[in-house]
Amino acid sequence: MGPDLKGVTERRDEAWLIKFVQNSQALIQSGDETAIKVFEENSKIPMPSHSLTDDQVKGILKYIAAGGKVAGGEKAQEETVVKTGETKVIPAVEEREARGKLRVTVIIMSVILLISLIDLYATKIIKAKAIHYILILTAITIVGEGVFVEAAALGRQQYYQPDQPIYFSHAVHAGQNQIDCEYCHYTAEESMHAGIPPTQVCMNCHKQVRSTELTFENGTIKGTDEIAKIYQHMDEGKPIQWIKVHNLPDHVYFNHAQHVNVGKLDCTECHGNVEDMDQVIQVEDLSMGWCIECHRTKEVQFTDNKFYDKYKDLHEKLAKGEIGKVTEAMVGGDECQKCHY
Ligand code: HEC
Ligand code: HEC
Ligand code: HEC
Ligand code: HEC
Ligand code: HEC
Repeated sequence: MGPDLKGVTERRDEAWLIKFVQNSQALIQSGDETAIKVFEENSKIPMPSHSLTDDQVKGILKYIAAGGKVAGGEKAQEETVVKTGETKVIPAVEEREARGKLRVTVIIMSVILLISLIDLYATKIIKAKAIHYILILTAITIVGEGVFVEAAALGRQQYYQPDQPIYFSHAVHAGQNQIDCEYCHYTAEESMHAGIPPTQVCMNCHKQVRSTELTFENGTIKGTDEIAKIYQHMDEGKPIQWIKVHNLPDHVYFNHAQHVNVGKLDCTECHGNVEDMDQVIQVEDLSMGWCIECHRTKEVQFTDNKFYDKYKDLHEKLAKGEIGKVTEAMVGGDECQKCHY
Protein backbone atom coordinates (compact mmCIF):
# COMPACT_ATOMS: atom_id res chain seq x y z
CA MET A 1 0.00 0.00 0.00
CA GLY A 2 2.98 2.35 -0.52
CA PRO A 3 4.19 4.28 2.54
CA ASP A 4 4.20 2.62 5.93
CA LEU A 5 0.75 3.11 7.30
CA LYS A 6 1.44 2.10 10.87
CA GLY A 7 0.51 4.98 13.16
CA VAL A 8 -1.26 6.84 10.37
CA THR A 9 -4.42 6.98 12.45
CA GLU A 10 -2.54 8.95 15.11
CA ARG A 11 -0.90 11.29 12.62
CA ARG A 12 -4.01 12.31 10.71
CA ASP A 13 -7.63 12.84 11.57
CA GLU A 14 -10.22 10.33 10.46
CA ALA A 15 -12.40 12.51 8.25
CA TRP A 16 -9.30 13.59 6.30
CA LEU A 17 -8.12 10.00 5.91
CA ILE A 18 -11.49 8.88 4.61
CA LYS A 19 -11.41 11.58 1.93
CA PHE A 20 -7.81 10.79 1.07
CA VAL A 21 -8.38 7.05 0.68
CA GLN A 22 -11.53 7.57 -1.35
CA ASN A 23 -9.97 10.03 -3.76
CA SER A 24 -6.55 11.49 -3.00
CA GLN A 25 -6.29 13.37 -6.29
CA ALA A 26 -9.49 15.30 -5.68
CA LEU A 27 -8.15 16.33 -2.27
CA ILE A 28 -4.82 17.45 -3.79
CA GLN A 29 -6.58 19.43 -6.47
CA SER A 30 -8.74 21.12 -3.84
CA GLY A 31 -5.45 22.57 -2.51
CA ASP A 32 -5.34 20.59 0.74
CA GLU A 33 -1.82 21.23 2.10
CA THR A 34 -1.37 17.89 3.89
CA ALA A 35 -2.49 15.97 0.84
CA ILE A 36 -0.07 17.85 -1.42
CA LYS A 37 2.76 17.19 1.04
CA VAL A 38 2.03 13.45 1.19
CA PHE A 39 1.88 13.36 -2.61
CA GLU A 40 5.25 15.09 -2.99
CA GLU A 41 6.93 13.03 -0.27
CA ASN A 42 5.93 9.89 -2.13
CA SER A 43 7.59 10.74 -5.45
CA LYS A 44 4.32 12.09 -6.79
CA ILE A 45 2.88 8.66 -7.45
CA PRO A 46 -0.87 9.11 -7.31
CA MET A 47 -2.71 6.64 -5.15
CA PRO A 48 -5.55 5.05 -7.12
CA SER A 49 -8.92 6.19 -5.87
CA HIS A 50 -11.01 3.52 -4.18
CA SER A 51 -14.75 3.27 -4.38
CA LEU A 52 -15.04 2.50 -0.68
CA THR A 53 -17.79 3.73 1.58
CA ASP A 54 -16.96 5.76 4.70
CA ASP A 55 -17.67 2.70 6.81
CA GLN A 56 -15.31 0.52 4.81
CA VAL A 57 -12.49 3.05 5.14
CA LYS A 58 -13.15 3.32 8.90
CA GLY A 59 -12.85 -0.46 9.15
CA ILE A 60 -9.51 -0.45 7.34
CA LEU A 61 -8.25 2.38 9.56
CA LYS A 62 -9.25 0.55 12.71
CA TYR A 63 -7.43 -2.50 11.44
CA ILE A 64 -4.28 -0.46 10.68
CA ALA A 65 -4.45 1.30 14.07
CA ALA A 66 -4.25 -2.11 15.74
CA GLY A 67 -1.07 -2.88 13.79
CA GLY A 68 -2.83 -5.17 11.36
CA LYS A 69 -4.11 -7.21 14.24
CA VAL A 70 -7.16 -6.92 16.38
CA ALA A 71 -7.35 -7.58 20.11
CA GLY A 72 -7.44 -11.21 21.19
CA GLY A 73 -5.51 -12.52 18.21
CA GLU A 74 -2.31 -13.43 20.03
CA LYS A 75 -4.20 -15.52 22.53
CA ALA A 76 -6.02 -17.36 19.75
CA GLN A 77 -2.76 -17.94 17.89
CA GLU A 78 -1.17 -19.59 20.89
CA GLU A 79 -4.11 -21.74 21.84
CA THR A 80 -4.41 -23.79 18.72
CA VAL A 81 -5.43 -26.90 20.63
CA VAL A 82 -9.12 -27.50 20.10
CA LYS A 83 -11.63 -30.02 21.23
CA THR A 84 -13.11 -31.78 18.24
CA GLY A 85 -16.20 -33.74 17.42
CA GLU A 86 -18.56 -31.49 19.36
CA THR A 87 -21.60 -30.92 17.23
CA LYS A 88 -24.00 -28.67 19.08
CA VAL A 89 -27.72 -28.65 18.52
CA ILE A 90 -28.74 -25.55 16.54
CA PRO A 91 -32.39 -24.72 17.38
CA ALA A 92 -32.92 -22.94 14.04
CA VAL A 93 -31.89 -26.06 12.14
CA GLU A 94 -34.39 -28.10 14.13
CA GLU A 95 -37.10 -25.49 13.49
CA ARG A 96 -36.37 -25.68 9.78
CA GLU A 97 -36.71 -29.46 9.90
CA ALA A 98 -39.99 -29.10 11.80
CA ARG A 99 -41.23 -26.78 9.08
CA GLY A 100 -40.27 -29.34 6.46
CA LYS A 101 -42.25 -31.95 8.38
CA LEU A 102 -45.24 -29.61 8.57
CA ARG A 103 -45.12 -29.36 4.79
CA VAL A 104 -45.23 -33.14 4.44
CA THR A 105 -48.09 -33.33 6.95
CA VAL A 106 -50.01 -30.69 4.99
CA ILE A 107 -49.71 -32.73 1.81
CA ILE A 108 -50.87 -35.91 3.58
CA MET A 109 -53.76 -34.06 5.24
CA SER A 110 -54.82 -32.57 1.90
CA VAL A 111 -55.07 -36.07 0.46
CA ILE A 112 -57.08 -37.23 3.51
CA LEU A 113 -59.34 -34.20 3.10
CA LEU A 114 -59.95 -35.02 -0.52
CA ILE A 115 -60.64 -38.72 0.15
CA SER A 116 -63.01 -37.86 3.02
CA LEU A 117 -64.97 -35.49 0.80
CA ILE A 118 -65.18 -37.99 -2.03
CA ASP A 119 -66.30 -40.73 0.36
CA LEU A 120 -68.80 -38.45 2.06
CA TYR A 121 -70.55 -37.47 -1.16
CA ALA A 122 -69.73 -40.20 -3.69
CA THR A 123 -68.23 -43.55 -2.70
CA LYS A 124 -69.86 -43.74 0.79
CA ILE A 125 -67.70 -46.65 1.98
CA ILE A 126 -67.53 -45.44 5.60
CA LYS A 127 -71.04 -45.37 6.98
CA ALA A 128 -70.62 -43.21 10.10
CA LYS A 129 -70.59 -39.60 8.87
CA ALA A 130 -69.05 -38.44 12.15
CA ILE A 131 -65.77 -39.97 11.01
CA HIS A 132 -65.82 -37.86 7.84
CA TYR A 133 -66.51 -34.72 9.83
CA ILE A 134 -63.70 -35.36 12.31
CA LEU A 135 -61.25 -36.09 9.49
CA ILE A 136 -62.33 -33.04 7.49
CA LEU A 137 -62.09 -30.69 10.48
CA THR A 138 -58.67 -31.99 11.52
CA ALA A 139 -57.39 -31.77 7.96
CA ILE A 140 -58.67 -28.22 7.46
CA THR A 141 -57.07 -27.08 10.73
CA ILE A 142 -53.66 -28.51 9.83
CA VAL A 143 -53.75 -27.40 6.19
CA GLY A 144 -54.84 -23.94 7.39
CA GLU A 145 -51.92 -23.74 9.80
CA GLY A 146 -49.54 -24.79 7.04
CA VAL A 147 -50.87 -22.15 4.65
CA PHE A 148 -50.60 -19.49 7.37
CA VAL A 149 -46.99 -20.39 8.20
CA GLU A 150 -46.00 -20.47 4.53
CA ALA A 151 -47.75 -17.17 3.78
CA ALA A 152 -45.97 -15.43 6.66
CA ALA A 153 -42.63 -16.74 5.41
CA LEU A 154 -43.28 -15.64 1.84
CA GLY A 155 -40.50 -13.43 0.50
CA ARG A 156 -38.47 -13.95 3.67
CA GLN A 157 -35.45 -16.11 4.20
CA GLN A 158 -35.63 -17.41 7.73
CA TYR A 159 -33.37 -20.46 8.16
CA TYR A 160 -31.35 -19.56 5.06
CA GLN A 161 -28.01 -21.38 5.29
CA PRO A 162 -26.00 -21.19 2.08
CA ASP A 163 -22.83 -23.21 1.45
CA GLN A 164 -19.84 -20.87 1.54
CA PRO A 165 -16.84 -20.92 -0.84
CA ILE A 166 -14.63 -21.99 2.08
CA TYR A 167 -15.98 -24.22 4.81
CA PHE A 168 -15.34 -21.71 7.57
CA SER A 169 -16.69 -22.89 10.92
CA HIS A 170 -17.74 -20.36 13.56
CA ALA A 171 -17.94 -23.26 16.01
CA VAL A 172 -14.21 -23.87 15.53
CA HIS A 173 -13.19 -20.19 15.58
CA ALA A 174 -15.61 -18.34 17.85
CA GLY A 175 -16.62 -21.44 19.84
CA GLN A 176 -13.73 -23.81 20.50
CA ASN A 177 -10.97 -21.24 20.00
CA GLN A 178 -12.96 -18.40 21.59
CA ILE A 179 -11.93 -15.78 19.08
CA ASP A 180 -13.90 -12.64 19.83
CA CYS A 181 -16.67 -11.86 17.30
CA GLU A 182 -15.32 -8.37 16.88
CA TYR A 183 -11.83 -9.62 16.11
CA CYS A 184 -13.21 -10.41 12.67
CA HIS A 185 -16.36 -8.27 12.53
CA TYR A 186 -14.42 -5.28 13.75
CA THR A 187 -16.71 -2.57 12.41
CA ALA A 188 -19.84 -3.75 14.28
CA GLU A 189 -19.31 -1.29 17.16
CA GLU A 190 -18.85 1.77 15.00
CA SER A 191 -20.48 1.30 11.65
CA MET A 192 -23.68 0.44 9.97
CA HIS A 193 -22.24 -2.90 8.83
CA ALA A 194 -20.62 -5.55 10.98
CA GLY A 195 -18.60 -6.41 7.89
CA ILE A 196 -16.91 -9.62 6.75
CA PRO A 197 -13.15 -9.76 7.43
CA PRO A 198 -10.74 -9.42 4.51
CA THR A 199 -8.54 -12.46 3.75
CA GLN A 200 -5.61 -10.65 5.38
CA VAL A 201 -7.29 -11.13 8.77
CA CYS A 202 -7.43 -14.90 8.19
CA MET A 203 -3.70 -14.80 7.42
CA ASN A 204 -2.94 -13.33 10.89
CA CYS A 205 -3.33 -16.87 12.13
CA HIS A 206 -3.23 -19.05 9.07
CA LYS A 207 0.33 -18.05 8.26
CA GLN A 208 0.98 -20.46 11.15
CA VAL A 209 -2.09 -22.68 11.24
CA ARG A 210 -1.62 -24.50 7.93
CA SER A 211 -3.02 -27.90 8.62
CA THR A 212 -5.56 -29.44 10.93
CA GLU A 213 -7.05 -32.79 11.77
CA LEU A 214 -10.52 -31.24 11.69
CA THR A 215 -13.07 -32.76 9.32
CA PHE A 216 -16.74 -32.03 8.80
CA GLU A 217 -19.85 -33.73 7.50
CA ASN A 218 -18.60 -37.26 8.16
CA GLY A 219 -15.12 -36.53 6.93
CA THR A 220 -16.12 -35.41 3.45
CA ILE A 221 -14.80 -31.90 4.13
CA LYS A 222 -11.17 -31.73 5.26
CA GLY A 223 -10.05 -28.67 7.26
CA THR A 224 -6.57 -28.65 5.71
CA ASP A 225 -8.00 -28.51 2.17
CA GLU A 226 -10.27 -25.66 3.19
CA ILE A 227 -7.37 -23.70 4.73
CA ALA A 228 -5.44 -24.21 1.48
CA LYS A 229 -8.15 -22.24 -0.30
CA ILE A 230 -7.17 -19.17 1.75
CA TYR A 231 -3.63 -19.28 0.29
CA GLN A 232 -5.03 -19.76 -3.18
CA HIS A 233 -7.04 -16.56 -2.80
CA MET A 234 -4.03 -14.71 -1.39
CA ASP A 235 -1.84 -15.88 -4.29
CA GLU A 236 -4.38 -14.92 -6.90
CA GLY A 237 -5.12 -11.64 -5.15
CA LYS A 238 -8.82 -12.37 -5.35
CA PRO A 239 -11.14 -11.68 -2.43
CA ILE A 240 -13.13 -14.64 -1.11
CA GLN A 241 -16.69 -14.42 -2.47
CA TRP A 242 -18.60 -15.04 0.77
CA ILE A 243 -22.32 -15.43 0.27
CA LYS A 244 -24.36 -13.00 2.33
CA VAL A 245 -26.73 -14.80 4.67
CA HIS A 246 -28.82 -11.92 6.04
CA ASN A 247 -30.48 -9.63 3.54
CA LEU A 248 -32.86 -6.80 4.34
CA PRO A 249 -34.75 -5.16 1.49
CA ASP A 250 -33.19 -1.94 0.17
CA HIS A 251 -35.87 0.29 1.64
CA VAL A 252 -34.95 -0.68 5.20
CA TYR A 253 -32.26 1.09 7.21
CA PHE A 254 -30.49 -1.05 9.78
CA ASN A 255 -27.39 0.00 11.67
CA HIS A 256 -25.15 -2.28 13.77
CA ALA A 257 -23.50 0.51 15.78
CA GLN A 258 -26.92 1.72 16.99
CA HIS A 259 -27.71 -1.73 18.31
CA VAL A 260 -24.33 -3.07 19.43
CA ASN A 261 -22.80 0.15 20.74
CA VAL A 262 -25.69 2.39 21.84
CA GLY A 263 -28.24 -0.38 22.42
CA LYS A 264 -25.64 -2.66 24.07
CA LEU A 265 -27.27 -5.71 22.55
CA ASP A 266 -25.43 -8.97 22.27
CA CYS A 267 -24.97 -10.50 18.82
CA THR A 268 -26.90 -13.58 19.98
CA GLU A 269 -30.11 -11.54 20.41
CA CYS A 270 -30.43 -11.32 16.66
CA HIS A 271 -28.13 -14.00 15.25
CA GLY A 272 -28.56 -16.84 17.75
CA ASN A 273 -25.64 -18.89 19.02
CA VAL A 274 -23.29 -18.36 16.10
CA GLU A 275 -20.41 -19.75 18.18
CA ASP A 276 -22.09 -23.18 18.00
CA MET A 277 -22.58 -23.10 14.23
CA ASP A 278 -20.36 -24.78 11.66
CA GLN A 279 -22.39 -23.03 8.98
CA VAL A 280 -24.16 -19.75 9.70
CA ILE A 281 -27.94 -19.98 9.56
CA GLN A 282 -30.36 -17.03 9.62
CA VAL A 283 -32.18 -17.56 12.89
CA GLU A 284 -34.75 -14.75 12.77
CA ASP A 285 -37.16 -13.87 9.94
CA LEU A 286 -35.96 -10.21 9.82
CA SER A 287 -39.56 -9.08 9.39
CA MET A 288 -40.84 -5.65 10.33
CA GLY A 289 -42.86 -7.30 13.09
CA TRP A 290 -39.66 -8.73 14.56
CA CYS A 291 -37.95 -5.31 14.69
CA ILE A 292 -41.01 -3.58 16.18
CA GLU A 293 -41.64 -6.33 18.73
CA CYS A 294 -38.21 -5.83 20.24
CA HIS A 295 -38.43 -2.03 20.08
CA ARG A 296 -41.66 -2.20 22.10
CA THR A 297 -40.54 -4.68 24.73
CA LYS A 298 -36.78 -4.50 25.18
CA GLU A 299 -35.57 -2.14 27.87
CA VAL A 300 -32.93 0.23 26.54
CA GLN A 301 -29.83 1.11 28.57
CA PHE A 302 -31.26 4.51 29.35
CA THR A 303 -29.21 5.72 32.30
CA ASP A 304 -25.46 6.31 31.96
CA ASN A 305 -25.83 6.42 28.20
CA LYS A 306 -25.00 9.84 26.82
CA PHE A 307 -26.99 9.09 23.70
CA TYR A 308 -30.19 9.48 25.75
CA ASP A 309 -29.24 12.56 27.80
CA LYS A 310 -31.60 14.74 25.79
CA TYR A 311 -34.75 12.90 26.93
CA LYS A 312 -35.18 14.96 30.12
CA ASP A 313 -38.85 14.20 30.81
CA LEU A 314 -38.36 10.45 30.38
CA HIS A 315 -35.47 10.60 32.85
CA GLU A 316 -37.73 12.42 35.30
CA LYS A 317 -40.57 9.94 34.90
CA LEU A 318 -38.17 7.08 35.40
CA ALA A 319 -36.72 8.70 38.55
CA LYS A 320 -40.22 9.30 39.95
CA GLY A 321 -41.15 5.70 39.22
CA GLU A 322 -43.99 6.72 36.85
CA ILE A 323 -42.56 4.33 34.29
CA GLY A 324 -40.72 1.11 35.05
CA LYS A 325 -38.49 1.01 31.98
CA VAL A 326 -37.80 2.84 28.76
CA THR A 327 -38.19 0.97 25.49
CA GLU A 328 -36.86 1.94 22.08
CA ALA A 329 -40.44 2.64 20.97
CA MET A 330 -40.70 5.38 23.63
CA VAL A 331 -37.79 7.24 22.06
CA GLY A 332 -39.16 7.05 18.55
CA GLY A 333 -38.23 3.50 17.51
CA ASP A 334 -41.74 3.02 16.06
CA GLU A 335 -41.55 5.89 13.59
CA CYS A 336 -41.60 4.81 9.97
CA GLN A 337 -38.81 7.07 8.81
CA LYS A 338 -36.39 5.68 11.42
CA CYS A 339 -36.28 2.39 9.55
CA HIS A 340 -37.37 3.38 6.04
CA TYR A 341 -35.54 5.47 3.48
C1 HEC B 1 -12.14 -15.70 12.51
C2 HEC B 1 -13.06 -14.72 12.00
C3 HEC B 1 -14.49 -14.68 12.52
C4 HEC B 1 -14.93 -14.68 13.82
C5 HEC B 1 -14.10 -14.77 15.09
C6 HEC B 1 -16.37 -14.54 13.78
N1 HEC B 1 -16.78 -14.47 12.48
FE1 HEC B 1 -18.67 -14.25 11.84
N2 HEC B 1 -18.06 -14.46 9.90
C7 HEC B 1 -16.76 -14.62 9.49
C8 HEC B 1 -16.74 -14.90 8.06
C9 HEC B 1 -15.50 -15.15 7.22
C10 HEC B 1 -18.08 -14.89 7.63
C11 HEC B 1 -18.61 -15.15 6.21
C12 HEC B 1 -18.80 -16.61 5.97
C13 HEC B 1 -19.96 -17.21 6.71
O1 HEC B 1 -21.09 -16.70 6.60
O2 HEC B 1 -19.74 -18.21 7.45
C14 HEC B 1 -18.89 -14.60 8.81
C15 HEC B 1 -20.27 -14.50 8.82
C16 HEC B 1 -21.03 -14.15 9.92
C17 HEC B 1 -22.45 -13.92 9.90
C18 HEC B 1 -23.34 -14.00 8.68
C19 HEC B 1 -23.24 -12.72 7.91
C20 HEC B 1 -24.12 -12.67 6.69
O3 HEC B 1 -23.62 -12.99 5.62
O4 HEC B 1 -25.29 -12.32 6.82
C21 HEC B 1 -22.83 -13.61 11.16
C22 HEC B 1 -24.23 -13.27 11.64
C23 HEC B 1 -21.66 -13.68 11.99
N3 HEC B 1 -20.57 -14.00 11.20
C24 HEC B 1 -21.64 -13.47 13.35
C25 HEC B 1 -20.57 -13.72 14.16
C26 HEC B 1 -20.64 -13.75 15.60
C27 HEC B 1 -21.88 -13.47 16.41
C28 HEC B 1 -19.39 -14.06 16.04
C29 HEC B 1 -18.95 -14.29 17.47
C30 HEC B 1 -19.70 -15.30 18.21
C31 HEC B 1 -18.53 -14.21 14.87
N4 HEC B 1 -19.30 -14.02 13.76
C32 HEC B 1 -17.17 -14.50 14.90
C33 HEC B 1 -15.64 -14.54 10.29
C34 HEC B 1 -15.66 -14.55 11.67
C1 HEC C 1 -30.66 -5.89 16.62
C2 HEC C 1 -30.27 -7.04 15.85
C3 HEC C 1 -28.81 -7.31 15.53
C4 HEC C 1 -27.74 -7.35 16.40
C5 HEC C 1 -27.72 -7.08 17.89
C6 HEC C 1 -26.59 -7.72 15.61
N1 HEC C 1 -26.95 -7.89 14.29
FE1 HEC C 1 -25.78 -8.45 12.75
N2 HEC C 1 -27.31 -8.19 11.43
C7 HEC C 1 -28.60 -7.85 11.79
C8 HEC C 1 -29.38 -7.64 10.58
C9 HEC C 1 -30.84 -7.24 10.54
C10 HEC C 1 -28.51 -7.85 9.49
C11 HEC C 1 -28.82 -7.70 8.00
C12 HEC C 1 -28.43 -6.31 7.60
C13 HEC C 1 -28.68 -5.95 6.17
O1 HEC C 1 -29.02 -6.80 5.36
O2 HEC C 1 -28.52 -4.75 5.86
C14 HEC C 1 -27.21 -8.22 10.06
C15 HEC C 1 -26.08 -8.52 9.32
C16 HEC C 1 -24.87 -8.96 9.88
C17 HEC C 1 -23.69 -9.37 9.13
C18 HEC C 1 -23.57 -9.37 7.61
C19 HEC C 1 -22.73 -8.22 7.15
C20 HEC C 1 -23.35 -6.88 7.45
O3 HEC C 1 -22.73 -6.11 8.18
O4 HEC C 1 -24.47 -6.60 6.96
C21 HEC C 1 -22.73 -9.72 10.03
C22 HEC C 1 -21.33 -10.21 9.75
C23 HEC C 1 -23.29 -9.51 11.35
N3 HEC C 1 -24.58 -9.06 11.22
C24 HEC C 1 -22.60 -9.75 12.52
C25 HEC C 1 -23.01 -9.30 13.78
C26 HEC C 1 -22.19 -9.32 14.97
C27 HEC C 1 -20.77 -9.85 15.05
C28 HEC C 1 -22.95 -8.78 15.98
C29 HEC C 1 -22.52 -8.51 17.43
C30 HEC C 1 -21.34 -7.68 17.59
C31 HEC C 1 -24.25 -8.44 15.41
N4 HEC C 1 -24.25 -8.75 14.08
C32 HEC C 1 -25.31 -7.89 16.12
C33 HEC C 1 -29.09 -7.73 13.06
C34 HEC C 1 -28.31 -7.66 14.22
C1 HEC D 1 -7.22 -15.67 15.52
C2 HEC D 1 -6.76 -16.79 14.75
C3 HEC D 1 -7.53 -17.24 13.51
C4 HEC D 1 -8.08 -16.43 12.54
C5 HEC D 1 -8.06 -14.91 12.47
C6 HEC D 1 -8.65 -17.30 11.56
N1 HEC D 1 -8.46 -18.61 11.92
FE1 HEC D 1 -9.08 -20.24 10.88
N2 HEC D 1 -8.40 -21.43 12.35
C7 HEC D 1 -7.75 -21.01 13.51
C8 HEC D 1 -7.52 -22.14 14.36
C9 HEC D 1 -6.84 -22.10 15.72
C10 HEC D 1 -8.06 -23.27 13.69
C11 HEC D 1 -8.15 -24.70 14.21
C12 HEC D 1 -6.93 -25.48 13.89
C13 HEC D 1 -7.02 -26.84 14.55
O1 HEC D 1 -7.72 -27.00 15.52
O2 HEC D 1 -6.35 -27.77 14.09
C14 HEC D 1 -8.59 -22.78 12.43
C15 HEC D 1 -9.18 -23.60 11.47
C16 HEC D 1 -9.62 -23.16 10.25
C17 HEC D 1 -10.15 -24.02 9.22
C18 HEC D 1 -10.34 -25.50 9.30
C19 HEC D 1 -11.55 -25.78 10.14
C20 HEC D 1 -12.77 -25.17 9.54
O3 HEC D 1 -13.27 -24.21 10.12
O4 HEC D 1 -13.17 -25.60 8.46
C21 HEC D 1 -10.52 -23.20 8.18
C22 HEC D 1 -11.11 -23.61 6.85
C23 HEC D 1 -10.20 -21.84 8.56
N3 HEC D 1 -9.66 -21.86 9.83
C24 HEC D 1 -10.46 -20.74 7.77
C25 HEC D 1 -10.31 -19.43 8.20
C26 HEC D 1 -10.70 -18.28 7.44
C27 HEC D 1 -11.34 -18.30 6.07
C28 HEC D 1 -10.38 -17.19 8.18
C29 HEC D 1 -10.64 -15.73 7.85
C30 HEC D 1 -12.02 -15.34 7.64
C31 HEC D 1 -9.78 -17.66 9.43
N4 HEC D 1 -9.76 -19.02 9.40
C32 HEC D 1 -9.30 -16.84 10.43
C33 HEC D 1 -7.39 -19.72 13.80
C34 HEC D 1 -7.77 -18.61 13.10
C1 HEC E 1 -33.40 -7.49 20.01
C2 HEC E 1 -33.98 -6.17 19.97
C3 HEC E 1 -33.99 -5.37 18.68
C4 HEC E 1 -34.29 -5.81 17.42
C5 HEC E 1 -34.64 -7.21 16.97
C6 HEC E 1 -34.19 -4.65 16.55
N1 HEC E 1 -33.86 -3.55 17.28
FE1 HEC E 1 -33.59 -1.67 16.56
N2 HEC E 1 -33.11 -1.02 18.42
C7 HEC E 1 -33.08 -1.79 19.56
C8 HEC E 1 -32.61 -1.00 20.68
C9 HEC E 1 -32.43 -1.47 22.11
C10 HEC E 1 -32.35 0.29 20.16
C11 HEC E 1 -31.86 1.47 20.98
C12 HEC E 1 -30.47 1.80 20.70
C13 HEC E 1 -30.43 3.09 20.00
O1 HEC E 1 -31.19 3.99 20.33
O2 HEC E 1 -29.63 3.24 19.08
C14 HEC E 1 -32.68 0.23 18.74
C15 HEC E 1 -32.57 1.31 17.87
C16 HEC E 1 -32.89 1.30 16.53
C17 HEC E 1 -32.83 2.43 15.64
C18 HEC E 1 -32.42 3.84 16.04
C19 HEC E 1 -33.63 4.64 16.40
C20 HEC E 1 -33.26 6.00 16.91
O3 HEC E 1 -33.93 6.43 17.85
O4 HEC E 1 -32.35 6.62 16.37
C21 HEC E 1 -33.21 2.00 14.39
C22 HEC E 1 -33.31 2.81 13.13
C23 HEC E 1 -33.50 0.59 14.51
N3 HEC E 1 -33.32 0.20 15.82
C24 HEC E 1 -33.90 -0.21 13.45
C25 HEC E 1 -34.15 -1.57 13.55
C26 HEC E 1 -34.53 -2.42 12.43
C27 HEC E 1 -34.74 -1.96 11.01
C28 HEC E 1 -34.67 -3.68 12.93
C29 HEC E 1 -35.09 -4.93 12.22
C30 HEC E 1 -34.41 -5.29 11.00
C31 HEC E 1 -34.37 -3.61 14.35
N4 HEC E 1 -34.06 -2.33 14.69
C32 HEC E 1 -34.42 -4.71 15.19
C33 HEC E 1 -33.42 -3.10 19.67
C34 HEC E 1 -33.74 -3.94 18.59
C1 HEC F 1 -38.16 -0.81 13.58
C2 HEC F 1 -38.08 -0.70 12.16
C3 HEC F 1 -39.30 -0.42 11.33
C4 HEC F 1 -40.25 0.54 11.56
C5 HEC F 1 -40.34 1.52 12.72
C6 HEC F 1 -41.15 0.49 10.45
N1 HEC F 1 -40.76 -0.50 9.57
FE1 HEC F 1 -41.70 -1.02 7.81
N2 HEC F 1 -40.38 -2.55 7.53
C7 HEC F 1 -39.32 -2.84 8.37
C8 HEC F 1 -38.63 -4.00 7.84
C9 HEC F 1 -37.41 -4.66 8.45
C10 HEC F 1 -39.31 -4.37 6.65
C11 HEC F 1 -38.97 -5.48 5.67
C12 HEC F 1 -39.11 -6.85 6.23
C13 HEC F 1 -40.35 -7.56 5.85
O1 HEC F 1 -41.34 -7.44 6.60
O2 HEC F 1 -40.35 -8.25 4.88
C14 HEC F 1 -40.40 -3.43 6.49
C15 HEC F 1 -41.30 -3.47 5.43
C16 HEC F 1 -42.27 -2.50 5.21
C17 HEC F 1 -43.11 -2.45 4.05
C18 HEC F 1 -43.07 -3.40 2.88
C19 HEC F 1 -43.83 -4.65 3.21
C20 HEC F 1 -43.59 -5.67 2.16
O3 HEC F 1 -44.39 -6.58 2.11
O4 HEC F 1 -42.57 -5.60 1.48
C21 HEC F 1 -43.93 -1.36 4.18
C22 HEC F 1 -44.99 -0.88 3.21
C23 HEC F 1 -43.61 -0.74 5.46
N3 HEC F 1 -42.60 -1.46 6.05
C24 HEC F 1 -44.23 0.38 5.97
C25 HEC F 1 -43.98 0.94 7.21
C26 HEC F 1 -44.73 2.04 7.80
C27 HEC F 1 -45.89 2.76 7.12
C28 HEC F 1 -44.20 2.30 9.02
C29 HEC F 1 -44.65 3.30 10.07
C30 HEC F 1 -45.97 3.09 10.61
C31 HEC F 1 -43.09 1.36 9.19
N4 HEC F 1 -42.99 0.55 8.07
C32 HEC F 1 -42.25 1.33 10.30
C33 HEC F 1 -38.94 -2.15 9.51
C34 HEC F 1 -39.64 -1.09 10.08
